[in-house]
Amino acid sequence: MRRPLVAGNWKMHGSRDSVGTLLNGLMAQSVPETVDVAVCPTYVHLDQAVAACANSVIAVGAQDCWHAEPGAYTGDVAAVMLEELGCEWVILGHSERRSYHAEADALIAAKLQAAAAAGLKPIVCVGETLDQRESGEAEAVVARQLRGSLEGAVGTAGLVIAYEPVWAIGTGLTASPEQAQQMHAFIRKQLQDLGVDAQQTRILYGGSVKPGNAGELFAQDDIDGALVGGAALKAEDFNAIIAAA
Ligand code: G3P
Repeated sequence: MRRPLVAGNWKMHGSRDSVGTLLNGLMAQSVPETVDVAVCPTYVHLDQAVAACANSVIAVGAQDCWHAEPGAYTGDVAAVMLEELGCEWVILGHSERRSYHAEADALIAAKLQAAAAAGLKPIVCVGETLDQRESGEAEAVVARQLRGSLEGAVGTAGLVIAYEPVWAIGTGLTASPEQAQQMHAFIRKQLQDLGVDAQQTRILYGGSVKPGNAGELFAQDDIDGALVGGAALKAEDFNAIIAAA
């Protein structure tokens, strides 16, 4: 049985005050010993989150990274800098970066190598658009994203996959437990075919996870937790999702 992971992707949200309030709210509830929890603020709030979580079991992650080592890359952040700051996790290939920053699978694979070299555990995101699902291409799209993004990733410590159907992100249109389970099982088979330790690799669901639907999603055999967006910005909701895991 895989240990569930509930990670909050705060995206480009927060101020030092609101981040402080949110972190205080998360610290107010003890985390079950059976669940791993992480929060992923923007770069500028990482230090605040690391300090607040220092004496808790809540880990901190970044929402992206660039090369492993420092260099002449204006505006980018090296994976070793994130590790030095106290990050354990890094989200890679989120659909918002794939679309807004034209991130291709090969770039995500390179970032995965950089993150692993720096000792960060990568959460690699895959997922199809509504058009792709409605045209029956969902599995082909996800398989291609996995093959391209996981190039050279066999044996990466702590690798986690997040299935985030683009049509469910921020829309309130959560995938049904059956839809999610079907794709998670497909992803697990793809991981096995790629030589990744499929039975041990956690596959998170992301896309309008809320306290009211988390339990039925987590009850599915191949759903090993959640990557939460909007609900992660409300301590009460995020704590409720953690409690459901
Ligand atoms: O990375 C998680 C995020 O994309 C999901 O967002 O607001 O639908 O939970 P949301």
